[in-house]
Parts: sequence; C-alpha cells; structure tokens
Amino acid sequence: MSETIKKTVIVRNLRHDHLSEMLAIEQRCFPDPWSEEWLEAMIHASVISWGSFTGKELIGYLIAMPSKDYTHLVNLAVDAPYRRKGIAQLMMNYLYLFVRRHKQNLIKLEVRRSNTPAIEFYKQENFCEVGFQKEYYKDKEDALVYNLEVK
Ligand SMILES: CC(C)(COP(=O)(O)OP(=O)(O)OC[C@H]1O[C@@H](n2cnc3c(N)ncnc32)[C@H](O)[C@@H]1OP(=O)(O)O)[C@@H](O)C(=O)NCCC(=O)NCCS
Repeated sequence: MSETIKKTVIVRNLRHDHLSEMLAIEQRCFPDPWSEEWLEAMIHASVISWGSFTGKELIGYLIAMPSKDYTHLVNLAVDAPYRRKGIAQLMMNYLYLFVRRHKQNLIKLEVRRSNTPAIEFYKQENFCEVGFQKEYYKDKEDALVYNLEVK
C-alpha cells in the first residue's frame, strides 16, 4: 500500500458540481453504471456521500444509507489508476467511525458474484457472506450479501 498517495487524499462530502467526474468514474468502474440522474438523486438522498480527492481531482467515492437497524453501503468505487493504494480502505474507515458514532453496529452490502476484486476487498475488511439475492442485477447476475458487525 502506498502511504504517499494516501497522505495526499482527502475524504469530503460530494456536491452537485462533482457529478460529471463521478459519472465518468462510475462508467469506467461498472458494467451497469448508475445514470447521472440517479447519482444526483443519491447525493441528495444519502446521508453519506463522500468523495476521495487528491487536490481537486475526484478519484473515488462511497455512498451509504443509514436506516434504523443498519447502514446500507450502496456504492463504492475507486478509479483504476488509484487502486490497491488503500483508498477504499480509507473511506471505509470513515464509514466505521460514522456507524460507531451513531450507535449502530451493522453494515450491509450487495456485490456481484463475479466481482472477485470487490469480494476480496470486503473479505479483508472482515465482511461475512450471509446469503445471496437471485438475479439481483439487470443482467440477472446474483448478488452476494455481505454483513459487517462493526466493533
Ligand atoms: C473494490 C475497490 C473499491 C477496492 O478499492 P481499492 O482502493 O483498490 O482497495 P484498497 O487499496 O483499499 O484495498 C485494500 C485491500 O483489499 C484487498 N484488495 C483490494 N483489491 C483487491 C483485488 N483486486 N484483488 C485482491 N485483493 C484486493 C487487498 O487485501 C488490499 O490490500 P493490499 O493492496 O495491501 O493487498 C476497487 O477495486 C473498485 O473500485 N472496483 C470497481 C468498482 C467495484 O467493483 N466496487 C464495489 C461494488 S460492490
């Protein structure tokens, strides 16, 4: 993990004017990217919509929706040139802080069965596979459901 890049990265709230950069990352990262309208709606609707920035450049983001019983991690992406440098881990650490501060202890997420890099990432963050949702995605791929109990 490169400490050098991590030291220059700042995590802060996403705003409307980050949308075009977000959309570009979303389209590079996912086979079924969210639309600009959906990203915008999520920025407004989600309590947690954070971007990782190096200088002014957006290089990744995390979107999550806290509810009464758990926090749902709905989107996590890091642009390819910045992967394996601890950026997703950095954003997750902020999420754990948020969850603890709000006296919750459960994070849930869905991930494509074929998305090995993300699955490896969640496993090393200590998430546990707790089930699956059949044909969850538009192309009918199943989602694996992962939970983390935050200590
Ligand atoms: C999954 C994703 C967010 C990980 O982001 P990242 O910033 O590269 O992750 P980190 O650098 O914080 O990884 C921390 C650790 O997770 C594990 N990990 C991350 N990516 C991995 C990969 N491709 N293969 C195996 N292990 C991986 C490693 O243990 C890594 O530590 P190391 O690099 O010291 O070995 C990124 O690959 C991504 O944006 N993918 C495309 C979008 C996506 O699939 N999002 C998830 C949707 S559910």
